[in-house]
Amino acid sequence: MKIAPSILSADFSDLKGAIAMCQSAGADYLHIDVMDGHFVPNLTIGPVVLKSIRPKTDLFLDVHLMVTNPDELVEPFVKAGADNITFHIEAVDNPIEIIKKIKSFNKQVGISIKPKTPIDALNPFLEKIDLILIMSVEPGFGGQQYISESTDRIKKLDGKLKILGIRKQVILEVDGGIKLSNTKLVKESGADIIVAGSAIFKTDDPHKTIEKFKNI
Ligand code: DX5
Ligand code: ZN
Repeated sequence: MKIAPSILSADFSDLKGAIAMCQSAGADYLHIDVMDGHFVPNLTIGPVVLKSIRPKTDLFLDVHLMVTNPDELVEPFVKAGADNITFHIEAVDNPIEIIKKIKSFNKQVGISIKPKTPIDALNPFLEKIDLILIMSVEPGFGGQQYISESTDRIKKLDGKLKILGIRKQVILEVDGGIKLSNTKLVKESGADIIVAGSAIFKTDDPHKTIEKFKNI
């Protein structure tokens, strides 16, 4: 199982240490939650923080934009070192333009979908993107409970991509409320990558916890 620790739950006063720990524990992606206080009721980090993280790690930087103006933030995050940029389908009227913009920088592009948004909203874009970020909590905070209906949504998207013959082209990433106890269920439903924040950083030994996730 591929694992993307979310640094939102890390100790921000020691981000360098947290990132080094993730890398040595074998994390695949580093998940960067960007919140603007508008799209979600929380405010986190901007490109300036990513710029200081980039030289400290060669982990794949997975930027999750929970903002109302993703198109204006694509270039600043690309310049800061993002490898993947995921924006929310609920935040924009012109997903195609933003997909084109991210691809014009040769970066991986993802679209995220909130728990209550119908998965069919993604239909026009499935053949144009590299990754779907399925939110299994309402975006905005770490430490929330996994929404059980998410399992069915993962299965439906997995099936839809298989029917379209593009399952190998599109990565399914699941974000929110992931624990060691529900990872097997999420994996068997079709997830390729899981994001985990509190389930890693709020444990006594985050390094060992990442290893446990990797071995599920
Ligand atoms: C929530 C974020 C998640 C969050 C995950 O809006 O997008 O990435 O940090 O944290 P946990 O794993 O604690 O739910
Ligand atoms: Zn996230």
